[in-house]
Amino acid sequence: SFSLDTILNEFPDSQSGDFRTPAYQLEGLDGDPVTRFSYQGYEIHKGKEKLAGLPYVRVFDDSQAESLIIHLKDSVRQLELDLTYTIYDDQPIITRSAKLLNLGQEPVYIKKLMSYNLDFLDGDWEVVTLYGSHINEKNLNRRPIQSDLIKIGSTRGTSSPQSSPFIGLVKADTTENSGEAYGFTLMYSGSFEGSIEKSQYGTLRTQLGIQSKNFKWLLEPEEVFQAPEVILTYSDKGLNKLSQGFHRLFVNQVMNPQFAKKERPILINSWEGHYFDIDEDNLYELAVESHKLGFELFVIDDGWFKKRNSDRSSLGDWVFDDKKFPSGFEKFAARIRALNLKLGIWFEPEMVSPDSELYRHHPNWVIKSWRYEPILSRNQLVLDLTNPNVREYLVDSISNVIEEGEVSYVKWDMNRHLTDLYSVNLGAAQQGELSHRYVLGLYDILERLTQRFPNVIFENCSSGGGRFDAGMLYYMPQTWTSDNTDAIARLQIQNGTSLLFPQVAMGNHVSDIPNHQLGRLTPLETRFNVACAGNLGYELDLVRLSDEEKAAIKSQITFYKKYRKTFQFGKFYRLSSANDNIISWQIVSQDGNQVILIVVQKMASNVYKVPIIHLQGLDEEAFYQNRETKEAFCGDELMYSGLTIPRMKGDYISKVYVFEKLKEE
Ligand code: DGJ
Repeated sequence: SFSLDTILNEFPDSQSGDFRTPAYQLEGLDGDPVTRFSYQGYEIHKGKEKLAGLPYVRVFDDSQAESLIIHLKDSVRQLELDLTYTIYDDQPIITRSAKLLNLGQEPVYIKKLMSYNLDFLDGDWEVVTLYGSHINEKNLNRRPIQSDLIKIGSTRGTSSPQSSPFIGLVKADTTENSGEAYGFTLMYSGSFEGSIEKSQYGTLRTQLGIQSKNFKWLLEPEEVFQAPEVILTYSDKGLNKLSQGFHRLFVNQVMNPQFAKKERPILINSWEGHYFDIDEDNLYELAVESHKLGFELFVIDDGWFKKRNSDRSSLGDWVFDDKKFPSGFEKFAARIRALNLKLGIWFEPEMVSPDSELYRHHPNWVIKSWRYEPILSRNQLVLDLTNPNVREYLVDSISNVIEEGEVSYVKWDMNRHLTDLYSVNLGAAQQGELSHRYVLGLYDILERLTQRFPNVIFENCSSGGGRFDAGMLYYMPQTWTSDNTDAIARLQIQNGTSLLFPQVAMGNHVSDIPNHQLGRLTPLETRFNVACAGNLGYELDLVRLSDEEKAAIKSQITFYKKYRKTFQFGKFYRLSSANDNIISWQIVSQDGNQVILIVVQKMASNVYKVPIIHLQGLDEEAFYQNRETKEAFCGDELMYSGLTIPRMKGDYISKVYVFEKLKEE
């Protein structure tokens, strides 16, 4: 009557009769895949241990968390498997991870080691995942689970825009504001896999972990392998509450505490305004205009380094182009700072152009097979971050630029995926470790740079949100959400991103029209109204704008500064679903006194339906006054009866409402 194939299993093996998806697969050098782990004991202690070389949910003092470690042992091979579970204060969060220790005499291959496995007796759930592509990141995908195996993942070397390391489970009647929801996300930025499997008797299994395709790790005697951490959370009140749980954790315990709760500067970025056509004169002109309009941070994007006039050369040569900056970078940087602007700069550190000094000197510093010409993508190759010399070079060359220009912000880009998975730095038996070692190498560089420059904001970018994951968030407190700056396309992208990430983590820019990605014309007001639901920036040539447009931008910046704390750190509610014609988002300040409502109409319609928006999370008894019209509404009215908004005529029309809570008399 007992079968491993039907019980709920905590960390299922692949060879013992549980034929569902295993949580791990090992193999001896002789090809023998059989293991027999059994329970050995447990410990419980305050706080939690750091995960060596990997990002993790931070604990600032031991009283914030408590950890349970379950020890499993294969006493034939002398392997120990430790499963760690940590709970945090009053938060509905459990983090988990798995660690394998080789206490035996023989090496063993790890072919798969998931960060968690979770079996549910009740398999009656729908699954929510995030899928997409470049300029189309983080689409919500919700579907019923049949008797099948759903797999998600990336084999691209990054978490990818195609799929996110996230699994959600919801009941059929779960909405944004009601019903049960589980959410699991991996703190990892490389190739990953996830599965949702409904078994023969209707139970459900979910897993997330490092991608097992192309993965084979040789664990020598006395060595330890640590799988990345995964965050598990639960909500009894729909997806908004689930997202708010993630947001709170990310701000309080994942982001670098140096920046986590600090209001972020409003930036102007040179990319869509100038692309590669930059020099000290046109940049300075842009900076002067930015200063007049109230910007705080001036970001020089791609094109500033030696001979970088297109995407065909120079990645890796991180020195200023003296043709574009004849007075020298130090002087130029000082002129920018004299305008009361902080200075930011773009890098794509993980890459090298074949046409670069770096590649000419170090052709073996890239990921490639020695047999073949490596495959180019965007005319570039990927540096082999498993090689400590490469990491040393990157830390040094980036540090030099930061120091020279007293740089306050770095945009860290990554614009191609990994192919030709071979490293001359690794032995034959270790080639299956390359993808994961690449990520460990990246984390090592980021750890060193963020320690060395604690006051520099690092912004994560991978052709937009292609590596927007909780692992990167640990090192970089904000991410460029998408290369798509079209306000209407952004509605879906930001909506999906908000499932996991707080507004302060999402870089949103107002750009020019016709939009450079889609060619669409949208009003400047709408471009701002969508971008303000996050960390605000602009990316267009301000100098060329009309006086009227400049004045509008100036007042947008003043408005954003006034409510910045709420925009960036307020509680976020999705009031519509991504496919609705009218998208509405609500942000409530932490103290509950300000309520911002953003409403965007995609297309005008000849069928007029009175738009009534039901606000969330207000104080039922309190009055909220519309800042513009001075009308006051009771909280219960706004939530249950709803706010009727005036008819919006036109495509891409939008409005931001601000309500202030009235003090009791
Ligand atoms: C891709 C990024 O996503 C863009 O914002 C820009 O920085 C370009 N790379 C520059 O090459």
